[in-house]
Amino acid sequence: MNTFTPTETHRSEAGSFMMLMLVVIAAGLGVVALILRLFSPQIRKYAAGGVCRSTARLDGKVALITGANSGIGKETALDLASRGARVIMACRDVEKGEEAATEIRARVGGAKVEVRELDLADTCSIRAFAQRFLQEVDHLHILVNNAGIMMCPYMKTVDGFEMHIGVNHLGHFLLTYLLIGLLKRSAPSRIVVVSSLAHNFGWIRFHDLHSQGSYNSGLAYCQSKLANVLFTRELARRLHGSNVTVNSVHPGTVRSELMRHSTAMSLLFAVFSMFLKTPKEGAQTSVYCAIAEELQSISGKHFSDCAPAFVAPQGRNEETARKLWDATSTFMGLFPNRVGGALFPVRAGPTGVLDGELSQRCKKRVTSSCSSIVCMCLQHLCYQY
Ligand SMILES: NC(=O)c1ccc[n+]([C@@H]2O[C@H](COP(=O)([O-])OP(=O)(O)OC[C@H]3O[C@@H](n4cnc5c(N)ncnc54)[C@H](OP(=O)(O)O)[C@@H]3O)[C@@H](O)[C@H]2O)c1
Repeated sequence: MNTFTPTETHRSEAGSFMMLMLVVIAAGLGVVALILRLFSPQIRKYAAGGVCRSTARLDGKVALITGANSGIGKETALDLASRGARVIMACRDVEKGEEAATEIRARVGGAKVEVRELDLADTCSIRAFAQRFLQEVDHLHILVNNAGIMMCPYMKTVDGFEMHIGVNHLGHFLLTYLLIGLLKRSAPSRIVVVSSLAHNFGWIRFHDLHSQGSYNSGLAYCQSKLANVLFTRELARRLHGSNVTVNSVHPGTVRSELMRHSTAMSLLFAVFSMFLKTPKEGAQTSVYCAIAEELQSISGKHFSDCAPAFVAPQGRNEETARKLWDATSTFMGLFPNRVGGALFPVRAGPTGVLDGELSQRCKKRVTSSCSSIVCMCLQHLCYQY
C-alpha cells in the first residue's frame, strides 16, 4: 500500500531533480576543467600574444621608463637593460624602485639601471625630476610613458586634477614636453606611450575633463587612455621631420597590480588569469615600439601584439587631438604652440588650476562601479577580436 501523500511525492521528485541538476553542473564544470587543463599550453600561447623578435642591442643608449618598479614597466626595464641600455627607472616610491632594480641586476649581469623619484601626480615633482635629469644625463634615446593608475576612487593630484587624467595624461604630457629638447638632440629617438584598448570606450569630456560634475572610475580611465592616443597623434604631427618618433601601445590584458583599486576586477582577473598575459608578455609591444628596426620612421601610430592596431574613430580625430593639446597646455601652464628645445612654463610650481573655489563647488556624483566593470569586461571581450 502507498503511504506517501501527493505533497510528499512532489517533494521527493523535486529533491531528485535538484540532485540531478547538481550532478549535471558538477559534470559540466569537470569537463570544462579537463578541457582547460588539456589545452592549457595552447591557451597560454594564444593569450601571450605577439613577441618582439628584434635582436637589436642598445649599448650606449639611454632609456627612461615611468612606473618601472612593477608590472609591464619593470619588464620593459629588464628587457632594455638586457640589451645594454642605461635604463633610468622613474618611480614614485624609490624604495619599491630600488627593489625592482636589485631584481633586474640579479637577473641581468652588468645591468645599468638607476632609480629616480618621479611622482606624476605632482607637477613640482615632474619639474624637479626633469631639471635634475637634464643636468645629469646627456642623451635620451627612448622614453616610455608607462606609469598608470586605473579605477581608483575619486582622487585629485597635488595640483587638483582628477587622478586618472592627471597621472596617465597630464603628468606624462608635462614630462615629455620638458624632455623633448633632449630627445631631439639625441635623435634618432623614440617615445612610447602606453595606452590601452580601453581608449575605445572613452571620450574627451572637454566640459568636465576632471570629472567634477560626475565621476565614474572606469570611464575616467578610458578617457585618460584615449587622451594618450590623441596626445601621440598630435605630438607625432608636431615632431614631423625631427627624427623623434612617438607611437602608442595597447599591451594586452595583463596580470599586474593595476587592478588594485577594484576588488571586482581583481577577482575577475584572478579567475581568468590563465587567459591573461604575464607582465613580460605585456611588455613585448612597448619593447617592440622602442627598438624594432622597421619602425624607425613610423610615428603617430597605435600598436598591439607587436603589430599595428585598430584606433577608435574618436582617437583618430585631429581636431579633438589639437583641442586636447591646447587644453592640456593651459592646465600645465605652457604656451600651447611651442614644442621645441625649451619649454615656456608660465608657473614654476603647482598650477592650482582646479584648486580653491572650483573644487569647493565640485559636485561629485560617484556612480556605482557596476558600469565600470561592464565597461572593462567589454574591453576584455573586444580584445579577443
Ligand atoms: N594590466 C593591463 O591589463 C593593462 C591593459 C592596458 C593598459 N595597461 C597600461 O599599462 C601601464 C602599466 O600598467 P601595469 O599593468 O604594469 O600596472 P602596475 O603594475 O600597477 O604599474 C603601474 C605603475 O605606475 C606607477 N604609478 C602609478 N601612479 C604613479 C604616479 N603618480 N607617479 C609615478 N608612477 C606612478 C606605479 O607605481 P606604484 O607601484 O608606486 O603604485 C607602477 O609602477 C599603465 O599605463 C596601464 O594603463 C595595462
